Amino acid sequence: MDIKEDVQIPSRIDLALKVNGTLYEISVPPTTRLVYLLRDELKLTGTKISCEIGRCGACAVQMNNQLVNSCLIMAYQSNHASIITIEGIAGDDLHPIQQAFLEEGGFQCGYCTPGMIMATKALLESNTAPTEEQIQEALSGNLCRCTGYGGIIRSVQRAIKDSDQKNSARSEVLMIHEVQQLSREEFLLQVGWVFEHSPWVAEKAWESRPFLSKEDLFQKMVKVVENAEVTDQLKLLRAHPDLGTRLKISEVSQKEQASVGLDKLSPNEFREFAFLNEKYVEKFGFPFIMAVKGQNKDSILAAMKERIHSSNDEERMNALNEVYKIAGFRLNDTFQ
Ligand code: FES
Ligand code: FES
Repeated sequence: MDIKEDVQIPSRIDLALKVNGTLYEISVPPTTRLVYLLRDELKLTGTKISCEIGRCGACAVQMNNQLVNSCLIMAYQSNHASIITIEGIAGDDLHPIQQAFLEEGGFQCGYCTPGMIMATKALLESNTAPTEEQIQEALSGNLCRCTGYGGIIRSVQRAIKDSDQKNSARSEVLMIHEVQQLSREEFLLQVGWVFEHSPWVAEKAWESRPFLSKEDLFQKMVKVVENAEVTDQLKLLRAHPDLGTRLKISEVSQKEQASVGLDKLSPNEFREFAFLNEKYVEKFGFPFIMAVKGQNKDSILAAMKERIHSSNDEERMNALNEVYKIAGFRLNDTFQ
């Protein structure tokens, strides 16, 4: 048999993917890359293309919550995926990161800006309080030929500051029936921080409205995490601050840790926590997580020493259960 007859390469392949929440069923040549599918087929030209070899970040989008360079993704790899592009991040108003870039002069020609903004969005979803070094590292895959990066870093810091201010404007206590009246943006503001300051959990749970009670809201958010890919669960766990260390952490986490004295460790205790945390991250890839309410320094240390012997899967489950407990406490404090 003629080999040419044997190997049939289809001239087009059928794909179904969600882009910015809309389902597209589309047929493209098998060699199409995601960036061209977005730009040429779907006319979403906000995603830019420059180097085409993964070096400049101009084409950055989120695929299943992960930041990717769409010039390196074949279109077929996006089959059944959920993609967010720069066009999908704003609501009625600009996204806060877009607003911050605008106000802080984070661009000149603007060609790199969609990629910068998508990279910033991905960073702030996994770390709400990055240091300047962490910002630089997160944006190191995004090249800008115009601005010299000062304005870009300032814009990211402005977005963080604005979101901190917004969070402190959050209602202290909300009646659960009031949740039904909230717009999506308001809901994310009120609830987006509850699961490790990772708003994607609330974003997904929003699709399961109405929430009949506080418990119903909690269970729907837990379901989102339980049904998430392991990579997303790990991302959630990595967003948790180290217990007892002095890294910059959110105000809520500071209060929670201070309530059991973790903000006043002696130098020896601090070293012990730091050492165990380091071992934890080395072994599991995420920090030790424990709902500290009702605990004390000794019980937390004892649990750290015991759980470090868990298997990776066991510890992921342990850590997720603690995240659920923390979120439950936070929801209880937020809603009546
Ligand atoms: S165009 Fe994709 S990384 Fe440069
Ligand atoms: S603003 Fe021109 S490339 Fe960045």
